[in-house]
Amino acid sequence: MSDIQESRISTQRMSVDPCMPAPVLEARLADAADIIRRGGLVAFPTETVYGLGANALDGRAVARIFVAKGRPQDNPLIVHIAEIEAVHSVAESVPASAWALAREFWPGPLTMVLPRGKLVPEQVSAGLATVAVRMPSHPAAAALIRASGLPIAAPSANISGRPSPTSADHVWADLAGRVEMLVDAGPAGIGVESTVIDMTVWPPLILRPGGATVEAIRRVIPETDVLPSTGIEATGPVKSPGLRYKHYAPRADLWLYLGDWKTQVDAVARRAAIENSAGRRVGLLITSETALALGAVGVRAVVAEVGSRADLSSVASALFDGMRRLDQADVDIILAESYSRAGLGLAIMNRLERAAGGKIVR
Ligand code: TXA
Ligand code: MG
Repeated sequence: MSDIQESRISTQRMSVDPCMPAPVLEARLADAADIIRRGGLVAFPTETVYGLGANALDGRAVARIFVAKGRPQDNPLIVHIAEIEAVHSVAESVPASAWALAREFWPGPLTMVLPRGKLVPEQVSAGLATVAVRMPSHPAAAALIRASGLPIAAPSANISGRPSPTSADHVWADLAGRVEMLVDAGPAGIGVESTVIDMTVWPPLILRPGGATVEAIRRVIPETDVLPSTGIEATGPVKSPGLRYKHYAPRADLWLYLGDWKTQVDAVARRAAIENSAGRRVGLLITSETALALGAVGVRAVVAEVGSRADLSSVASALFDGMRRLDQADVDIILAESYSRAGLGLAIMNRLERAAGGKIVR
């Protein structure tokens, strides 16, 4: 028997209305802020996904995040701030290019990697000389940071390797008993995580596509590069340790179908029929258009509808919830449709490719 006891703590859950005036919201979050100041863990909403927060200046508090999530020790965290100027308290220096992006995208779904400031303990950055910083736009996130008077280190509030949480129920399913408090403010908005961009190199390099699109970033810095999503493991040192891990993954194997839409629909219909006749329970992660087309040809499957092909933001906001729903339905295999890589499509495809872990049908 292991001598390491998994000690469960009781998790307080509180609801806030994100539309309340900012000072009221801050006052409502006084207890949550107190937990942060005392070195505890608070899960809270952001405009991308829910985060699992701790005082970013307290190495012991930050270490607890890794334990609660079962997160590999070498995967660094993002530090969240509530005022642009607070970047000086966590970064050693801020290049002009980073200011240009901050002015355009903060508050919002952009995380910038900068030289790490002296006050930030190395646990936050898993020993790297850099620190990832973002200023979230969700009113409850901003209010929690302000009320605590501290920068807050927060990864996505899921058990490591599971799909990121886009609702308080997702967080509860993963982290109840492991954190002091969960702040519920309804569904997160965008549904995929922030864009992570390395500003310590020129040209700036996008390490993880996310809520801020490459197109929008290039309107400010046209030279911006994007780390290719394939071959990360094969080439050179790992730029962003998080990229090494299979991620965002439901429990069942997920197969991603590429090609034009009609080809995907036909291939998914054939595959579903084969799996069904082998006695396997099929889950489909598909848009309303595809559900209609597959329904018309009589495909039998558990369907998690994820928005409409005509609106990629509707797909982004439903994607992780769809993966979790299919897990709950206990399917044996998931077949997922694919999207254009324009705009939010790049982040959606990145998460799907990583959930598929190489199981891609061309
Ligand atoms: O939208 C988001 O970014 C959410 C919300 C809660 O803010 N957070 C989030 O955190 O997605 P997490 O820990 O799940 O993903 C952070 C990513 C990882 O891929 C990590 O490796 C990378 O950012 N990262 C963090 N610090 C870094 C650094 N100093 N250098 C390079 N990559 C870094
Ligand atoms: Mg994560």
